Amino acid sequence: MDEHESPELTEDEKRLFANLMPEDLSEILDTGVNRRHFLKLMTLAGGGILAAQSAVAEQLLTRPLTPAPAIEPASVSLDNAVNVSFKVNGTVRKLTVDSRMTLLDALRERLDLTGSKKGCDHGQCGACTVMVNGHRVLSCLTLTASCEGKAVQTIEGLAKNDTLHPMQDAFLKHDGFQCGFCTPGQICSAVAMLDEAKKGQASYVTQNVRQTTGPARLSNEEIRERMSGNICRCGAYPNIVAAIQEVYSGKPVEQVFRSV
Ligand code: FES
Ligand code: FES
Repeated sequence: MDEHESPELTEDEKRLFANLMPEDLSEILDTGVNRRHFLKLMTLAGGGILAAQSAVAEQLLTRPLTPAPAIEPASVSLDNAVNVSFKVNGTVRKLTVDSRMTLLDALRERLDLTGSKKGCDHGQCGACTVMVNGHRVLSCLTLTASCEGKAVQTIEGLAKNDTLHPMQDAFLKHDGFQCGFCTPGQICSAVAMLDEAKKGQASYVTQNVRQTTGPARLSNEEIRERMSGNICRCGAYPNIVAAIQEVYSGKPVEQVFRSV
């Protein structure tokens, strides 16, 4: 058998791991690391990418080595494991996750809901926006463990069977995207933003936050401000604003693009 295919680590390889990350060795071996993973890690280390032992340990412990089922068996052993029960798009989901796992990773990697995108993973682009209890959140900055008992809605849960959500319809009508990478986050953000405005919640451009009574009036400029946390690298902003304005006003908004 090719030595790369041999599943077990040799004693020398274990010793190397023990030197590199003595405190994490037993955890690493418990998670089923085999020679293939070992060689990959050593390649990363040689390239200077393995900046810190803890980063590797975290990767090993937060990311499943093999595809995990949506409902995890109770036998999974993680030192930092927490059980989380929450509703995702109306369905109760129960997961055993590392306490450090973000909601974005849980949605994408454990529940196969890949609509929410990982753009920056640092809370700067908005591509990962979902709704938790009706409020828009950046799922890359939200711990799964903090969602216990809450209701999460993602882009996958907006349409009702074959009927798109009005915001999805409007984005299609107004061509509110090009590559589409930011679009799930834009749409989730827009849906929650209209609810915020309806409740009269202030924004950065509200003239007097002490006098916010009743729903906010959304000019195009105010929509731009309230959506400023969602970046579109394709620059589809005029079309995105037109789509949101149409859903907000309930009246047709002139399309800002021309088909050739
Ligand atoms: S991926 Fe969450 S804000 Fe960019
Ligand atoms: S449509 Fe491409 S990033 Fe927004």
